[in-house]
Amino acid sequence: MTLVNQLPPTTPRLDELVAGIRAALNYHGDWQRTAQRAASALRRHLPSPELLTGVHPGDQEELRGRLLHVEPDGTFSIQAVVWPAGRVTRIHDHVTWCVLGVIQGAVHEELFTLSGNGEFLIPTGSTMNATGTVNGFAPPGDIHRVATSGDRTAISIHVYGTDLSRLGSSSLRYYDLPVRP
Ligand SMILES: [Fe+2]
Repeated sequence: MTLVNQLPPTTPRLDELVAGIRAALNYHGDWQRTAQRAASALRRHLPSPELLTGVHPGDQEELRGRLLHVEPDGTFSIQAVVWPAGRVTRIHDHVTWCVLGVIQGAVHEELFTLSGNGEFLIPTGSTMNATGTVNGFAPPGDIHRVATSGDRTAISIHVYGTDLSRLGSSSLRYYDLPVRP
């Protein structure tokens, strides 16, 4: 996901989320456990779409990532992604653990695993994430493709265990390979 710009100073609601993620990271677990704890924090402090007041998602022409917060020590970043109807990502995996919460519309996620010879992808499942749904995951096993569902613009909040202002993207690799059941 590409970072486009940065929002004005954070809202109190976002401050609560930032504090919750900091507490989750204080446990110093592995990526899987950290993602689970961060997901719990996001469930408790899931922002409303008003967080993006002043942004007009319906006018967006492409998938955009909007950086909401970068922790000063670089341990995590919070990003809002606006998903115009009909949008779908390339199949990709990630540089670090990730937590995703849907705050408007619905987001469909398909999961894949790489074949033993690395020549194709095998579908391993899919989930429909309605508004209010929060999921966390961590590499390995994080190859996925995400799309909007229905004709409504979706908005999701993502937390990544890295400094996205420095990396510019949460994606590690893209997989332009055939998909075979
Ligand atoms: Fe992703």
